[in-house]
Formats: sequence, C-alpha cells, structure tokens
Amino acid sequence: MKRLVNKDDFPTTKEYAYLNAANVGLMPVSAAKIMTDWYMDVAINGSNNFNDLAEDTAFDGLRKQGARLFNCQPDDIAGGSSCTVLLSSIAWAIMPGAHENVVSTDIVFPSTIYPWTRISHHTGCEIRLAKGKDGYADVNEIIAQIDKNTSVVSISHAEYTSGQLYDLKKLADVSHENGALLVVDATQSAGAIPIDGPGSEADVIISGSYKWLCGPFGAAVMYLAPHLQAKLDPGIIGFRSHENMWELSPERLVYPNSAKRFESSTMAFGCIKGLEKSIEYLLGVGIENIYDHNLKLSDILINGLSDLGANIISPMEQSERTSIVTCFIDGLDTKIVIEKLKEQDVVAHKRQKYIRFAPHLYNCEDDVLRALEALENIIKK
Ligand SMILES: Cc1ncc(COP(=O)(O)O)c(C=O)c1O
Repeated sequence: MKRLVNKDDFPTTKEYAYLNAANVGLMPVSAAKIMTDWYMDVAINGSNNFNDLAEDTAFDGLRKQGARLFNCQPDDIAGGSSCTVLLSSIAWAIMPGAHENVVSTDIVFPSTIYPWTRISHHTGCEIRLAKGKDGYADVNEIIAQIDKNTSVVSISHAEYTSGQLYDLKKLADVSHENGALLVVDATQSAGAIPIDGPGSEADVIISGSYKWLCGPFGAAVMYLAPHLQAKLDPGIIGFRSHENMWELSPERLVYPNSAKRFESSTMAFGCIKGLEKSIEYLLGVGIENIYDHNLKLSDILINGLSDLGANIISPMEQSERTSIVTCFIDGLDTKIVIEKLKEQDVVAHKRQKYIRFAPHLYNCEDDVLRALEALENIIKK
C-alpha cells in the first residue's frame, strides 16, 4: 500500500503506530505552526497585527475551507469553539416544545443528545432513544421512533464506539416527511468520509476539529442548510452575532442572513486558523482518497484481528463502515491491553469494554501490522 502523506508532516508517526483518530487526531505540522504563530503574534504584539479588520474576518478562511469540505457555499458555514457549543446554540434555536420529541439512539455520544436533554428540562419535550447494542443501532429502529411530533432527529453520522455509519439521505427523507429536521454530529466522520452537505439534505452538520479533521481542540465547523439561515434565533449570542459586529449598539440586534449568525463572540481564533489549515491540508490529499486509504487499512486490521480470535463489534456491511475497528478479546482486560500496546509504541483507545483502533491518512500498512504483532504478543503471554 502506498503512503498517502509524508511522515514529516506528522512526526509522531515515526515513533508510534498511532491508531487513535477517533479520540485525538494528529495535526499536520504546517497547520500546528500557523496556529501557534498566531498565538505568539497576539501574545507579543497585541492588536498591532490582530486589528479590528483581522478580528472581523477571522472566520472567513474557515468558512471557505468548510464550504469545500461540505460541498456548499461559505455562507452555509459557521465556526465555533466545539461541536457541543454549536449544537447547544442550535438546540436552543429550535427548542422543541412540550408535545414534540427528539429522536436519537441510546449508544450515541452523550454530547450529541445532551443539548436536547437540556431543552427537555425547559420545555418538557420528549427524548426518544432507539435501542442499540454493542455500539450499533439499526437505522430502522431509529426510523421507527420518528412520527409527526418529531421536531428533530439528532444523530452521530458515525457512532463513536463502533464506527457505524448512517445513510444521511435516508434519515433526512424520513425526518422531512414527518416535518422534522435532521441534525448531524459529524465529529467521527468529517475529514475521513466524504460529506455533501446539500446532497445529504441534512439540515445541520457539525464537526469538532480534533479528531478526523486533524485540527486543534477549541474549534469546530458547522454546515447550516440555506432554508434555516434567516430563520433560526441562535441560542448563544454576543457582539459578533450582529450583522455588522463593530457597530456596537446594545439597542438592536440584527443577525446576518447566513450561518455566520451562529458565530457569537471572541474565541480561540488561533484554533480557527489551525482548523482552517488542517481542512485545507486534508482537501489537498482528497477526502475520497483518505476514505479509500483508511478503509484499506481497516481491512487489514479486520483480517488480522479475526486471525487473532478477537471479537469485532464494528459493522462489516460496506455502506456502514468507517475505518474505526473495535473489538474485545475473551479473557483479556481491555485497559491492560491498551497499556501493553502503548508499551510497544502502539496507540489505540479504550471505549467501554472495547479496544478501538482508528487509522487515518497518516497511517500506513506497517502501523497496522505493528499493532497486530503487538496484540499477538499480549495474547500469547
Ligand atoms: C460523536 C462525538 N461528538 C462530539 C464529541 C465531542 O465534541 P466536542 O468536544 O467538540 O464538543 C465527541 C468526542 O468524542 C464525539 O465522539
């Protein structure tokens, strides 16, 4: 298998078989440098370079790269400080009422549903969680929960435990037939799986930065479908929320008619720059290429793990697969397995009782073979 990127761009890969993008992805050095340079400049020079114009336009680059990532317009993109914060602002903007419900799964990452749970404390809306097992939820179980009182279907595009991938168009169609919105947490997919925002017909897609997008903590990116851009009243607002932020009048608040209305305040602007550059880097490699590469690595993992007798819980159906491969090994404590892998310079992660491997563009076949060999050493002892 060919290498997809230069090891110098991700120096850690020279030492470790780093298979942990579902927890924390590696940043390309070029993006990390832009981020740290930004912080250094503001720390030393204050507003000399980071002036009012620079502050006003701080998200423009991310909006441009986000539009390329989600195949949409820059006006459809907003930046934020985390997936959870953007989703919370969306949740308060939609605010499902007492007789409405929000549908998700009981295996979803908590942050994907908690913002709606908070709304339920306020309005009394119902939270409906389709039953899943071992990190997997049947999409038909989700669909069975949706009815005419559903306000929002809020799912994670790829489930964090098993990597199970949902068909967004299928869920969007059922949601819309019932008058509901589809709100997608793409934190475990964006950067690794091609996502067409408008083509998916999802209404909102949000991704954190620090996993598959290879960006820093402290940033996130959101796609907001055009039909919502002049309509939603964001849950979190600040001086940036006004259409011309430097007008600074407390007497009125007029939002821009674009996703930008969700960019409320000052934030970790250096992280936004870092995320912008990371996305640009990934797009330079090509998300389709990354997707193919990562699936090939996970094929090798799946075969090797099967040979070692591991119990794999990640789905095998092609349309439901990501490169996340999750397993457990009879008779072995996962926590200890993860520690012993690390002793052999292999980085994987424990989620619930499972060992989760998450190869990304900076990994190569050799990393996966090293992981399998290290695991074999642990099993044999
Ligand atoms: C699916 C999913 N969504 C959200 C998050 C957390 O996102 P953030 O820290 O940006 O709020 C995680 C973290 O593991 C996740 O797996």
